[in-house]
Amino acid sequence: MNYKNQNYSYNLKGRTAIITGGSSGIGFAIARILGFYGCNLSIVGREPKKLNLSKKKLKSLNIKIILNNCDLTLPESAPKVIESTIQEYKKIDILINNVGGLPSSGSFLDLTDEDWIQSFQLNLMSNIRITKAAIPYLQKSKAPRIINISSFVAKQPGNFNPHYSVFKAGILNLTKHLSNILAIDKILVNSISPGNIVTENWNDYITKKSEVERIARIQIEKQENKRVTEPTPLKRMGKPIEIASLVAFLSSDQAAFITGENFNIDGGRVKTI
Ligand SMILES: NC(=O)c1ccc[n+]([C@@H]2O[C@H](COP(=O)([O-])OP(=O)(O)OC[C@H]3O[C@@H](n4cnc5c(N)ncnc54)[C@H](OP(=O)(O)O)[C@@H]3O)[C@@H](O)[C@H]2O)c1
Repeated sequence: MNYKNQNYSYNLKGRTAIITGGSSGIGFAIARILGFYGCNLSIVGREPKKLNLSKKKLKSLNIKIILNNCDLTLPESAPKVIESTIQEYKKIDILINNVGGLPSSGSFLDLTDEDWIQSFQLNLMSNIRITKAAIPYLQKSKAPRIINISSFVAKQPGNFNPHYSVFKAGILNLTKHLSNILAIDKILVNSISPGNIVTENWNDYITKKSEVERIARIQIEKQENKRVTEPTPLKRMGKPIEIASLVAFLSSDQAAFITGENFNIDGGRVKTI
């Protein structure tokens, strides 16, 4: 093998990437790094203020970006995102399914049918609908990728929020299924399972908890940090860039032999091998 002309940097110049939930947290870090490596972006979120702020930040870095202001739990949203992306960039190379979260929380006995249905729409259907709509365009791409953001609880569910961990586990199964059926089109499908990551969402959660419990924010922060870092061998929370960096690698040509895989980025939290 001739190693002389090997290129070790990621060149994603001119590739089109859709990032669902790209306006904050992990999604924004993904948008930033894919933009840095040359992708043209199409990001999705509900709040116009958050979207516009992200656009401003990314544009100041000379990154090309369009916004899709919609709710991906609604069936009509996914085709609209694909349509506007194609209208602007004429192609789709990378789909990052990052939208997800906890619309409600509780134990198995507390959760209502409505809680389960909402979480199903947010954590699974938001992914399924846009993936289905993107596939005909990904089939035409020279380096197509689908990267799904799951969670460490997919493999190691806790005692709360089974309506979240069950659907995050579904994402891993879906990733494997799609990697098998889309290999014929060279569409690579992988997933990432983050551990506890410090995002705006986490900071809001701390603020809210301190208000509700009328305990100083700094105390709540310390207590909550201890709760999530104690079972984590590396004894800290993760950073959005630590997830985004793997997304950039998986999107690159260097990752062309990886498909159907799930990657834990969780400081060692998941204990299985
Ligand atoms: N942070 C963690 O510790 C952690 C751990 C494991 C897994 N994860 C997973 O990582 C992903 C990102 O989490 P994050 O903490 O970065 O979340 P986040 O900070 O809450 O960001 C979520 C993003 O998705 C958008 N969004 C939420 N619901 C949407 C909807 N129905 N339609 C369209 N856009 C929507 C949000 O914008 P709008 O609110 O404006 O819509 C925002 O841009 C999620 O799938 C989450 O389950 C996170």
